[in-house]
Amino acid sequence: MIDCRAEIEIRDGTDRISREELIRGVAGCHGLLCTLTHQINKEILDAAGPNLMTISTVSVGFDHIDIEECKRRNITVGHTPAVLTEAVAELTIGLLLTTARRVREALSVVESGSWCSWKVLWLCGTQLSNKVVGIVGLGRIGLAVAKRLLAFNVNKILYTGHSEKAEVTLSDTDATLTIAPSVDFNTLLHQSDIIIVCCALTPETNGLFGESAFAAMKKNCIFINTSRGKVVNQSDLYNALVSNEIQAAGLDVTTPEPLPVDHPLKKLKNCVIFPHLGSATIEARNEMWTIAVRNLIAGLNNEPLPHPVY
Ligand code: DGY
Repeated sequence: MIDCRAEIEIRDGTDRISREELIRGVAGCHGLLCTLTHQINKEILDAAGPNLMTISTVSVGFDHIDIEECKRRNITVGHTPAVLTEAVAELTIGLLLTTARRVREALSVVESGSWCSWKVLWLCGTQLSNKVVGIVGLGRIGLAVAKRLLAFNVNKILYTGHSEKAEVTLSDTDATLTIAPSVDFNTLLHQSDIIIVCCALTPETNGLFGESAFAAMKKNCIFINTSRGKVVNQSDLYNALVSNEIQAAGLDVTTPEPLPVDHPLKKLKNCVIFPHLGSATIEARNEMWTIAVRNLIAGLNNEPLPHPVY
């Protein structure tokens, strides 16, 4: 039982709140519960005014919040780590299989009626066994993805990340796999058959995957991104996919979201795009909202947040 007396404004509908509505609604508030669909920047903080004590985002990522400005104004910020790790890891494997096994093309031939009789190389994809997988960002989600890859008998897992992990050995009843110490980014690009991006969006990772990164990848490389769209330069990715510089890409995140209907990436057979579904399970979302509300109430009561960003 948590004690908190507060006036809560509940809005009708589940559509995205407009910027104008947010600016109007936040004025004078002590707490703000938000999602990653809004940039919480100076404009919003100014609109809220000096009452604002705490911000709680229903997400693990907090790149949509101006953290430095919040610190300057002594506003606490909470997020929802850990509870969506499994959901995002499962989705990452789903996106990888969808991309590697050309499931998007396969579904479209079934739906359009162009399913022809069995042919030797028709819709052949790539299998995961014996592949070298590079994970960019071996945090909670990256590690959960690595654990699931063990079941697919991958050959080796490489990683890059901002912090060095002690050697990790993954094992289940049939297999053991040791993740070697981190490698430099270029080694990962050159050696991986599959690259999976699980890192946070930071000034260092913004635009990390551009022309030179795609050029350094193997021609058969499958590129998967379930972190943030801005980690990728999308026009460079488009060029790499049309020129077959890499084999295929699977994206759960794009810039912007939603991606415009006529966006060039949507026309490519070798690009699978999901509408940011990483944490979209009932289980994860229930936990995320529970934690977010707990963070908010703690912040309003001037107590330490259960899951602070800083
Ligand atoms: C997050 O919480 O940051 C995820 O991107 C949501 O899917």
